[in-house]
Amino acid sequence: MAAFIVNGRRTTLDVEADMPLLWALRDELALVGTKFGCGAGLCGACTVVIDGEAVRSCQTPVGAVEGKTVLTIEGLGESGLHAVQKAWIEADAPQCGYCQSGQIMAAFALLAGNPNPTDADIDDGMTNICRCGTYPRMRAAIHRAAA
Ligand code: FES
Repeated sequence: MAAFIVNGRRTTLDVEADMPLLWALRDELALVGTKFGCGAGLCGACTVVIDGEAVRSCQTPVGAVEGKTVLTIEGLGESGLHAVQKAWIEADAPQCGYCQSGQIMAAFALLAGNPNPTDADIDDGMTNICRCGTYPRMRAAIHRAAA
């Protein structure tokens, strides 16, 4: 059993506490915008924001988010595109797009902590992998969102 807030809604799941949050989001709550990539905490495709911090949900047991607030890509854009999402579109950031919801959530958390990041701040703060190599366009999008 786990009780937490997802995208502003109180949510209680009757699942094992060690179920990865990624499974809970995708399989129990149908929030499939959060992606499975490596399942090992390396790629960041599964990134969500928990109490303001970007977190790899494949490595986070659902029991560890008890009482916490989880924001997914669906919640970020729920009442219209967020500034980060708009910047992503304007900068034409995605290529295949698979990793991008995780990238956007990581960028959202980065900007929340540092509203005017330098290139070095972005390179240090954005640890998610993009196999298409869209890093320069994502960096441009983050600067655009910060402006
Ligand atoms: Fe979680 Fe790759 S799927 S880090």
